[in-house]
Amino acid sequence: MNVVVLVSGGGTNLQAIIDQVNEGVMPHVNLVKVISSASEAYACRRAENNHIPFCVISRKTFANMQAYDEAMLTALTDSSADLVVLAGFLSLLGPKVVSAFSNRIINIHPSLIPSFCGKGMYGIRPHEAALARGVKVSGATVHFVNEYYDEGPILLQKSIEIDENDTPQSLQKRIMLTCEQEILPRAIQLIADNKVTIENNRAFITK
Ligand code: GAR
Repeated sequence: MNVVVLVSGGGTNLQAIIDQVNEGVMPHVNLVKVISSASEAYACRRAENNHIPFCVISRKTFANMQAYDEAMLTALTDSSADLVVLAGFLSLLGPKVVSAFSNRIINIHPSLIPSFCGKGMYGIRPHEAALARGVKVSGATVHFVNEYYDEGPILLQKSIEIDENDTPQSLQKRIMLTCEQEILPRAIQLIADNKVTIENNRAFITK
């Protein structure tokens, strides 16, 4: 299965996927390309260090969403992508990409959806919001991407308990390490093993 990973930042989730592929845990996964929304993203260096082809496609270099959407669609189809993984990718995908890759795009979000998600909820913000609300658990969610922010079928979630001494930064770090970096590679593996079906906006995993 050809996987293209879209990134915008540090790329710790990308690294978790690369590590599992290198360890032979995902024999059916072929990391064919990394696409970054920013050339300065450290995730690009991770791709380079691991000899994975990468390119930068930045929304702000296109005159409008339509041109951006076309360029992203061309990059994905040129790479023969079977699955698109948003691993800390912070740009919105256009309607052509979302419909061409219906049920073939997954995203990792750093909260338990439907809490602390939606437009503007990215990076540190879901953790700030979780602490401000005083929730006792938080975590991460892998979901399929549809045309609305964070609303596609939920595939995997993992929770952790919040400590009263947590700061947004400590919570973010713990969730990245113990939730995101575990469930994102697992989600890819489940899809590669053909164990996921989607019905009525719900994802089901074959045991
Ligand atoms: C991760 O925490 C990811 O869940 C979050 O951005 C971070 C990227 O880290 N994504 C979102 O907030 C999307 N709404 P990384 O670049 O080190 O993988």
